Amino acid sequence: GGIGVAAGVLHRHGDSEGTPEPKKIADALLPGESIAFRYPGEADRAVAVRLGDGTLVGYSAVCTHLACAVLWREDRGGEGELYCPCHEGIFDPRTGEVTAGPPPRPLPKVLLIEEMDGSVWAIGATRSGEGVQEALCRQLGDD
Ligand code: FES
Repeated sequence: GGIGVAAGVLHRHGDSEGTPEPKKIADALLPGESIAFRYPGEADRAVAVRLGDGTLVGYSAVCTHLACAVLWREDRGGEGELYCPCHEGIFDPRTGEVTAGPPPRPLPKVLLIEEMDGSVWAIGATRSGEGVQEALCRQLGDD
């Protein structure tokens, strides 16, 4: 015997839901700026925002209510909110949590990194209700 043992330690690579490719989404993103992009797949709407204090955040832009497109709506001073115009759903841009309206769940996060040249890359995405740490472990093949 012995042949059966190896199957259990095979690495899973590039399976359809586990490991999205890194994708450059902007050459630069300045405070108060946002950009709409598609991630992890070409059908998946997403949005990235540089908040007024420099924090970079990324989310799925598919409303968790009835899947309308969520937009960044800037207030004066570089603050703002993620807003769904269909039924006035509002999400906190720092956490993705619902702050108003009918959406039942927070927005899933898109994980972003910034390179030395200022370019912004999407490197992963959480599933609804999943934490960033869990998503990273899943995408690194820890499971
Ligand atoms: Fe977004 Fe209803 S679809 S609030």
